[in-house]
Amino acid sequence: ALERTFSIIKPDAVAKNAIGAIYNRFESAGLRIVASKMVHLSKEKAEGFYAEHKERPFFGALVSFMTSGPVMVQVLEGDNAVVRHREIMGATNPAEAAAGTLRSDYAASIDENAVHGSDAPESAAREIAYFFSDEEICPRTR
Ligand code: CMP
Repeated sequence: ALERTFSIIKPDAVAKNAIGAIYNRFESAGLRIVASKMVHLSKEKAEGFYAEHKERPFFGALVSFMTSGPVMVQVLEGDNAVVRHREIMGATNPAEAAAGTLRSDYAASIDENAVHGSDAPESAAREIAYFFSDEEICPRTR
């Protein structure tokens, strides 16, 4: 089914100057970028985004990392976009990520793991709305 998913290129990958290389992976896999912007997250914005992890031991480090530099946030559209995007990213822990995935190629550790992607269509809808208004999303007509 035609789906949308939400994607973040995290501060480590932005610092590696890998935005274009990562966008190329998305497009080569048939995902279309239908919204995109660079933002430097505030502590409050990052805490709200990761609210489900608030009680986890890594929450403080996660928020600190995600606010350490600018990120790229984007909406990707395509057939089966949520799963397709997760396949491109690879496992959360780069030590377990398959060769050729983004985490395998760009991530140094589970804490600094280059990219984020929605885990289901429901979380995708929530995460997209957390960063983008309807007018900022541009479905393709050609
Ligand atoms: P992400 O998909 O952005 O969602 C939460 C992030 O927390 C995750 O990627 C990891 O970068 C980070 N994290 C750190 N430790 C863990 C852990 N033990 N389990 C899951 N996520 C972790």
